[in-house]
Amino acid sequence: MAILNIVQKGDETLRKRCKEVKEINDRVLEILDDMKDTLYSSGNGVGLAAPQVGILKRLVVIDVGEGLLELINPVIVEQEGEQNEVEGCLSIPGVYGRVKRPARVVVEYTDRNGKKKRKEGTGLLAICFCHELDHLDGILFEDKVNEFVEIEKE
Ligand code: NI
Repeated sequence: MAILNIVQKGDETLRKRCKEVKEINDRVLEILDDMKDTLYSSGNGVGLAAPQVGILKRLVVIDVGEGLLELINPVIVEQEGEQNEVEGCLSIPGVYGRVKRPARVVVEYTDRNGKKKRKEGTGLLAICFCHELDHLDGILFEDKVNEFVEIEKE
């Protein structure tokens, strides 16, 4: 297990489209473990996508306070409603802004055991699903901000 370096805005890795994971092998599981360690060591992150640690695979880890979710090849299969909350990103420190996202999304993904799963998210989890899945297609939240906000952090 290891804490990986988080790629910062400006690095072209963040703008690439990630490749689908074809086989869940030891390497993929190791990446998920390292992404989990990296997310938890960040202190304030609720989600991390593989390109943020320089790996162009469709892998995401999320923890909005309800336990760890590990998503392999996640896809949004349902969405409804709208919310416009403030987001930030571990790859763009110090920048915060409001982004319009669905109020509810359902994500279909494969778990580390190769099982197909579905997970519904509302509120912060819905935001997190959208934000992290965007990363897999080279999209940053900044691209979608309708209002930047100042947040003082200690
Ligand atoms: Ni992000």
